[in-house]
Amino acid sequence: MKPEAFFAPLIRGAIIEQTGGPWTVAYETGGKADGGAADRTGGSAVCIDYAGDAGDEQAAAEQIRAAFAASGSARNNKIPTRVKITSGGNSYVYLTAPDYAGIDRARSDSRTDAWDAPGAREKSGAADFAASRAAVIKNRAALITGGAQGFGEEIVRGLASAGALVFIADLNKAGAEKLAAGLNGEYGRTIAFPVEVNVADEASVQNMAETIALTTGGLDLCVSNAGVLRAASILEQDIASFKFVTDINYTAFAIVTKHCGLLMKAQHAAAPSWTADIIQINSKSGLDGSNKNGSYAGSKFGGIGLVQSFAKELVEYNIKVNAVCPGNFFDGPLWSDPTKGLFVQYLNTGKVPGAKTIADVKAFYESKVPMGRGCTGPDVIRAVLYLVEQIYETGQALPVTGGQVMLS
Ligand SMILES: NC(=O)c1ccc[n+]([C@@H]2O[C@H](COP(=O)([O-])OP(=O)(O)OC[C@H]3O[C@@H](n4cnc5c(N)ncnc54)[C@H](O)[C@@H]3O)[C@@H](O)[C@H]2O)c1
Repeated sequence: MKPEAFFAPLIRGAIIEQTGGPWTVAYETGGKADGGAADRTGGSAVCIDYAGDAGDEQAAAEQIRAAFAASGSARNNKIPTRVKITSGGNSYVYLTAPDYAGIDRARSDSRTDAWDAPGAREKSGAADFAASRAAVIKNRAALITGGAQGFGEEIVRGLASAGALVFIADLNKAGAEKLAAGLNGEYGRTIAFPVEVNVADEASVQNMAETIALTTGGLDLCVSNAGVLRAASILEQDIASFKFVTDINYTAFAIVTKHCGLLMKAQHAAAPSWTADIIQINSKSGLDGSNKNGSYAGSKFGGIGLVQSFAKELVEYNIKVNAVCPGNFFDGPLWSDPTKGLFVQYLNTGKVPGAKTIADVKAFYESKVPMGRGCTGPDVIRAVLYLVEQIYETGQALPVTGGQVMLS
């Protein structure tokens, strides 16, 4: 791991530990510690000469927290806007601010050299102080894999409107960039960051985690949403297609949890009372088998096993791991795409007896839902915010199916 990415979550954690609320730490510059650009910091900077091993999280966390205390920052309840760490002959400079607008301001005004005062002290999870459920995510850093379209896009939009900083991570780089640019324009400030990633490729996921560390200093919520579906009879499906579904829906969730979990664990080393969340967007098919769709249902059932296991393991680092299990998103591209959506496919293959139009196919599937409609983005966002707000639950699978699947 790059040293600048190693130190970032520790600095963010040390600030969170002091303020009790989220903070943004952005890597600014680095280089030889010889009085060059990386060495020029203003009077309010906290400067740390780190002599320990690069990679020893606990030692570095302790030294960073001690430097904050010695600087008087903790005493005055003020946070430095710059932090410089010197290690192994190199210096690394970070900007810090309560939100990303503060980072943008500091970059456009090189004279900015003040100390930031945190607002009212928040509790981890912010539940006690939340004016509404949406407030639990304000100024927090959230990652949404597969965020460029479908449920992912809905979650990105919902979290952005609740005030989160959102990383839109997707194989579809152009789609992620377009969505991020649209949101940044709409809100008139930087709140969304596109990241190209293939969640099935560990090097790509590690790179994504480093990008997050350098951009916001850490991560509070990982929504593992990217998923694929290749419906087929087990008597006919080729095994490469079965494995492809398993790779993205099951194994990639483990890869994403590994690298986001490492980032959250580093943050935890400096902020032991802070809670972070990993949420898998699973499916009703992770709770109830799906006819001629075994690769999908099997990968999603497996996801629940991973959620429960990761929850038991990562609770040590105050990381909750839960799943949201939505029902069918009939208005999303998977179902409604006019050329390759499931409604068109099912109409053309005669899967729904007697159906003559797409509306007939849709009505058939809606009739299976006690509440008479498909799942929507807002339904899923409510579930995500609930799981973040609920700090006394982990390892759960939360159905959002309009009553179609009920837990026993
Ligand atoms: N659509 C539904 O009816 C429905 C119902 C229940 C659960 N889900 C689950 O919700 C999640 C999202 O589904 P959707 O229907 O919105 O999907 P979608 O196909 O509309 O979008 C998926 C996104 O993931 C991205 N993606 C695919 N493979 C990737 C990879 N390897 N790396 C990074 N990004 C990748 C795609 O580019 C796309 O932007 C999935 O996990 C799915 O299983 C969907």
